[in-house]
Amino acid sequence: MKRIFITRPLPAPVIAEAEKHFRVEVREKTTPLTRTERRAAMALYDGIVPTLGDNFNEQVLQGGPHRCKILANFGVGYNHIDADFAAENGICVTNTPGALTDATADIALMLMLMTCRRAAEGERMVRSGQWEGWHPTQMLGLHLSGKRLGIVGMGRIGQAIAKRAHFGFGMEVAYFNRSPKKVDVPATQLKSLKTLAANVDVLVISVPGGTNTKHLIDADILAVMKSHAHLVNIARGDVVDENALITALQTGQIGGAGLDVYENEPDVPAALLKLNNVTLLPHLGTAALEVRTAMGMLAVENLRAFFEGEGLPNPVN
Ligand code: DGY
Repeated sequence: MKRIFITRPLPAPVIAEAEKHFRVEVREKTTPLTRTERRAAMALYDGIVPTLGDNFNEQVLQGGPHRCKILANFGVGYNHIDADFAAENGICVTNTPGALTDATADIALMLMLMTCRRAAEGERMVRSGQWEGWHPTQMLGLHLSGKRLGIVGMGRIGQAIAKRAHFGFGMEVAYFNRSPKKVDVPATQLKSLKTLAANVDVLVISVPGGTNTKHLIDADILAVMKSHAHLVNIARGDVVDENALITALQTGQIGGAGLDVYENEPDVPAALLKLNNVTLLPHLGTAALEVRTAMGMLAVENLRAFFEGEGLPNPVN
């Protein structure tokens, strides 16, 4: 039986499924693998199920051939894995798209509402005993229904966000995508990210992370946004220049932000923690048991297909 290493505890049905096919070792820690653990895993196991934070970069993957021939990532985002270098060295990388599209889009809508309607700020007020009762001009936020939404990255998750925003909230949707993309939600593709940013009330980021998108949302993009507009990031933290965002929030250059991801997770800059006009979630995008179970099942299915010589459901390289 092939030896598989699962780098974090996963829902029990996923482990049970993996054990039907493989000799499985599950690491009980919830923290990212250390470099020594990553190197050892490459030598000891036939396949690894890594996840966010398990940095399988060139330094870890070099020096092969390794025993490990497949990194079946748990998650859709795989910017912690050097997939090109892996491919050059005969290591296959797969991910788990599809299983998490709706859950991640839901979190985007949640953050849009939370930041526009000041939900977290209101909750802090209630919990701290500062609420003095309802009055007509208290905590006025941005009404979301009918407003203009800009989506950066119109993949599966971007389209699921568009659907919810358009059909649920009557929002007018525009988007920026590297390549021309036709979608089956009423939405307009714009050629320039700057034009999109300048013309929407809410800008949501749903592009993959990695070197191509690092600081795609920088000071120049934030500078053209409307002063009442909100930025929502459910993608990867480093797509947004966090320092530039802090400045934009501190100076009122934009109305607010809703973040599920950060440049150096789990570190959240103290300056962000101090601000009232930002909603901060702990990377909750896929955090529901059935979603995490479906993601795990897909990772196991990728492993099974790989070792049985079948076509891979979700290859990334
Ligand atoms: C994903 O699937 O990429 C989520 O962000 C969790 O890693």
